[in-house]
Amino acid sequence: MIDALGRNIEYMRISVTDRCNMRCMYCMPHEGVVWRPHEEMLSYDEIVRLCKIFAALGISKIKLTGGEPLVRKNLSSLVKRIKSLDGIENVTLTTNGLFLAQQLDALSDAGLDAVNISVDTFDEDVFQKITGASGVQKIREAINKALTFENIRVKVNCVPLKGINDDSLAELALLAKDHRLSVRFIEMMPIGLGRQFEAFKEDELKTLLEKQFGPMTYFNGKLGNGPCRYYTVEGFRGKIGFISAVSHRFCDKCNRIRLTSEGFLKTCLQYNEGSDLKALLRSGKDDEEIKMCIRDTIFHKPEGHHFGQTFDAQCSKTEEHKMFQIGG
Ligand code: 5AD
Ligand code: SF4
Repeated sequence: MIDALGRNIEYMRISVTDRCNMRCMYCMPHEGVVWRPHEEMLSYDEIVRLCKIFAALGISKIKLTGGEPLVRKNLSSLVKRIKSLDGIENVTLTTNGLFLAQQLDALSDAGLDAVNISVDTFDEDVFQKITGASGVQKIREAINKALTFENIRVKVNCVPLKGINDDSLAELALLAKDHRLSVRFIEMMPIGLGRQFEAFKEDELKTLLEKQFGPMTYFNGKLGNGPCRYYTVEGFRGKIGFISAVSHRFCDKCNRIRLTSEGFLKTCLQYNEGSDLKALLRSGKDDEEIKMCIRDTIFHKPEGHHFGQTFDAQCSKTEEHKMFQIGG
């Protein structure tokens, strides 16, 4: 579907739960998180029904996210159902990796196309400091196991945190040397708890990595569905990427929308704007009525975010949710 600014919206991130088995310091507070009751989350039947409608409107790529999507029961059954819908080409998953190894066989059988594993360090102490959990070994196992499935593309996502995981970044990048995976560095976005942290600038990190691994060459080809800027490094099998929403704003090319676990269609990460699709589903609206609402909502997708700028006119609409509630 094309929005009012001519952007082709073909990719949807679906948060299947706001719950998580970690407490990353920039995402989820240790205490005081009030989980939404299960009845407020969309059921798998509701998600599949919406996916079918979205697919008819031109959404062909679906990413399942959270919270941590693998804490929701039998996620592979959802992957399978979405994958079998007409018009859906690609179903992928973002996970923190803790529960991944044990579910990979089922996810692969269900037709999962790719997995993004988020890990900010392989140093157990630093890991515990960042996530409040232990599990470096489990995540290493999950990455290794994922690489054995030839039908699944693997990416590793890391959020560099000034003064916290600086010493881990080169080690993470090295994964792309020997393995068929890309390592992507995601610039901290000033959303929720992320506001409290200083972002590592892409150019600064690139310089740091180049010192260690030699020159990085911008990769001009198409890779993945999103805004990542990839580089090749001599001697590396995989690529190194940067997703820098603030320092390299990419809203003009944005191809995505988000569905929260409570069934709210969000058209821009930074704003509350969107539509309550759950209310439509549960008040007995038919597919045509829901489709009209989605079409209208996507058409009015905001021009983009204004992180780091003052924007009085839009202040009232700024997103106050935390990242785990929005779905990253
Ligand atoms: N800015 C950037 N990335 C974030 N994530 C969570 N919060 C933020 C933020 N404020 C990342 C996680 C994970 C992905 C789902 O989103 O680290 O990689
Ligand atoms: Fe959980 Fe991901 Fe948030 Fe960490 S960033 S607390 S793994 S949802």
